[in-house]
Amino acid sequence: MALRNHIATRVFVFLLLTACANAHGKKSEEKKECAPAAASGPGGSFDITKLGATGNGRTDSTKAVMEAWKSACGGAGKQTIVIPKGDFVTGPLDFIGPCKGDVTVQLDGNLLGSNDLSKYKANWIEVRKVDNLVITGKGTLDGQGPGVWSKNSCAKNYNCKILPNTLVLNSVNNGLVSGITLLNAKFFHMNMFRCKDVTIQGVTITAPEDSPNTDGIHMGDSSKISIVGTTIGTGDDCISIGPGSEGINITGVTCGPGHGISVGSLGRYKDEKDVKDITVKDCVLKKTTNGIRIKSYEDALSPITASKLTYENIKMEDVANPIIIDQKYCPNKICTSKGNSKVSVKDVTFKNITGTSSTPEAVSLLCSDKLPCSGVQMNDVKVEYGGSDNKTMAVCNNAKVTATGCLKELACL
Ligand SMILES: *[C@@H]1O[C@H](CO)[C@@H](O)[C@H](O)[C@H]1NC(C)=O
Ligand SMILES: *[C@@H]1O[C@H](CO)[C@@H](O)[C@H](O)[C@H]1NC(C)=O
Ligand SMILES: *[C@@H]1O[C@H](CO)[C@@H](O)[C@H](O)[C@H]1NC(C)=O
Repeated sequence: MALRNHIATRVFVFLLLTACANAHGKKSEEKKECAPAAASGPGGSFDITKLGATGNGRTDSTKAVMEAWKSACGGAGKQTIVIPKGDFVTGPLDFIGPCKGDVTVQLDGNLLGSNDLSKYKANWIEVRKVDNLVITGKGTLDGQGPGVWSKNSCAKNYNCKILPNTLVLNSVNNGLVSGITLLNAKFFHMNMFRCKDVTIQGVTITAPEDSPNTDGIHMGDSSKISIVGTTIGTGDDCISIGPGSEGINITGVTCGPGHGISVGSLGRYKDEKDVKDITVKDCVLKKTTNGIRIKSYEDALSPITASKLTYENIKMEDVANPIIIDQKYCPNKICTSKGNSKVSVKDVTFKNITGTSSTPEAVSLLCSDKLPCSGVQMNDVKVEYGGSDNKTMAVCNNAKVTATGCLKELACL
């Protein structure tokens, strides 16, 4: 009995050990298999200060931010990169996808772009091939432009070296940039290229009036872009809509100082794509050199069309050229001015455009004799020259215009 019991106990212990070993083996296998599935639930969060970043305004934190990006982009589910309060200096940040999950950059503090230009290949922060991107928060992307603007020779030299743009979205589908401030970019503040379904909302962009090429937001080869409730004051275009832009909504934007909201320049490079379905609505332009502008080179290299452009409820405050279509655009004499324009401009509506201009010419339609502007509608265009030494006038060359409810002198009769 004692013996049998002993054997029975040994057998029982053996079975127990085997069962444990099996359970253990299975468990570790399960763990491996389940890890990615678990992450697709809650996702992950990466605070750059926990990865070695120091927010003292001096120490280079590039490595910590890039580590946060690699972890966030490599994880499934909702992944967040947290930039907490503080001033974090970095060199170029290449946020390259595709990512496994959806990445949010939570910008509570400030990123400062290093002024050591030898560190940069092209841009400061470039997000490339990323879907479902969010950049949000009350923090600032400070380009620290004042330290390098003197190295910009683009006004004198056609083949100038381009300084780093602050935030480039390249091939981003479904993105949101909200709440943040972009300050003193070295070159453009934002540049979108090959993007689709991107919204920019409640963003502030600021640089001095005399800072070189500090465009607010430029876009090209992009579709379904919305810019909403945003304030932009810089030394160059507030918003510029380049070739290949389609389905663009700009609503509730305040611009100034700067060069206004532009379509173009068009026709500078070969095989540019058309621009169409552009709506600019409920915007205010304050002391800008242009209000709403369409600009194209007269010596364009290949045919291109800008069509279905609608400007509605726009208030001008002391704007030099409130409404301007310029098919003979040629800055710094970099082009021959006597080409045959290949850029057609058609179906353009200006509706309820009011306020004041700082020069007598409130409306300038400088269209090409070879390719006149067609389908231009002006409804309730009432912009008056603010000075007392001259009267309000329009210059209308080669434009087919229908006008209703406009100031008599602006109707291009
Ligand atoms: C732009 O606005 C128009 C009219 O309000 C709307 O039909 C269109 O979907 C909007 N596009 C985007 C990209 O938001
Ligand atoms: C014209 O635009 C202004 C904003 O610039 C707006 O306040 C006003 O209501 C608009 N008028 C009409 C008739 O839509
Ligand atoms: C009024 O303005 C136009 C256009 O800028 C200019 O050609 C003209 O000389 C000005 N007239 C006076 C009296 O200043």
